[in-house]
Amino acid sequence: MKEDKKNMTKESTSRRPRVFSGVQPSGTLHIGNYLGAIRRWAAQQDEKESYFCIVDMHAITVYQDPESLRHLTRDVAALYIACGLEPQKSTIFIQSHVRAHAECCWILNCVTPVGWLERMTQFKAKAEQRESVSTGLLDYPVLQAADILLYDADEVPVGEDQKQHVELTRDIAQRFNSIYGPTFTVPKAVIPESGARIRALNDPSRKMSKSEAHIRGHAIRLTDEPDEIRHVIRCAVTDTGREIVFSDAPEKAGVNNLLEIYELLTGKNRSEIEAHFEGKGYAVLKEEVAEVVVEALRPIRERYHELVSDPAELDNILTAGADHARSVAEPKIQDIKRKVGFIVMGRGMVHFLLEIGLHSRLHQKIGGLQR
Ligand code: AMP
Ligand code: TRP
Repeated sequence: MKEDKKNMTKESTSRRPRVFSGVQPSGTLHIGNYLGAIRRWAAQQDEKESYFCIVDMHAITVYQDPESLRHLTRDVAALYIACGLEPQKSTIFIQSHVRAHAECCWILNCVTPVGWLERMTQFKAKAEQRESVSTGLLDYPVLQAADILLYDADEVPVGEDQKQHVELTRDIAQRFNSIYGPTFTVPKAVIPESGARIRALNDPSRKMSKSEAHIRGHAIRLTDEPDEIRHVIRCAVTDTGREIVFSDAPEKAGVNNLLEIYELLTGKNRSEIEAHFEGKGYAVLKEEVAEVVVEALRPIRERYHELVSDPAELDNILTAGADHARSVAEPKIQDIKRKVGFIVMGRGMVHFLLEIGLHSRLHQKIGGLQR
């Protein structure tokens, strides 16, 4: 019994599969982020050794106002926890706090052909929207590969839109391993059958997106108040028919989207849901979906407000998360550097402790000396 409990902690052995995933602090999180990603992470944190990152370095591949980036970064951390991620079980941290991510990205850049990056559909779509494209935007998937490979993650739970980036991560890992010898675990994307691509409520032909979550009617944000949720769902675009059934037909995408949200939040099966709505109109469907969403998001919103009212506590959680992440990433980056032929110096004890995780405590003690 005691042993079982020990196995549930993040310090336990590598017998549990490792999971890595992340969200960009580039906008307000919505129900697509929750259903496609974060809720699933929370559900498996007892069985898996999990690392959940707030990827601020990815966010700046398109311009972010610095003050709002800081604000959104803490916001994402608070929402991770409000959605059920537990700092005692999962490592929650900010990407830029662990410098090995940037170092690993550079080394992986040097084994990644630029043609692989130019083919990425997300890059092509984002590049089309702007006149000038930063090198960071092109390089974005290599940084993502660095995130995943540094932790030797086995699984990457993400929504459908990230599948191509995880495939590329596998290609980069295999290429590095074949040039320099076995170094990285080749990870796999874990994409759900339902909820992998929640659609925009105002245009069900497109996915719900963080960058448009501020446009009223597009998304249900995790922090939206009940009346706003009801309003947005009431206005959701559907079709001129009457049938309330799960369907892949493009014209039924709006109704299907509402049904998927309902399915995921109630846990009912599809035939039960179709029978329940048989003969009812879209107005009833929307009303019932809205109530289910309001109740599901209520505890998340309440917990979120508690957490953001205590930023010091949130920062403590993030500091401890980064310390633990560093204890995994730092030895790994040293190994990668050795593999490519860098001279890895034996370093002084203080430096070593700083890097592997006593960072915060030591820093408080020696801070005066450094300043
Ligand atoms: P992002 O908002 O791009 O930072 O994505 C964070 C996570 O949420 C990733 O795993 C995405 O695949 C997932 N995600 C984003 N938008 C959706 C959506 N509309 N439906 C399902 N999953 C999504
Ligand atoms: N690119 C991902 C997204 O926008 C975020 C991300 C960065 C990520 N690094 C990651 C996801 C590593 C999974 C694993 O959704």
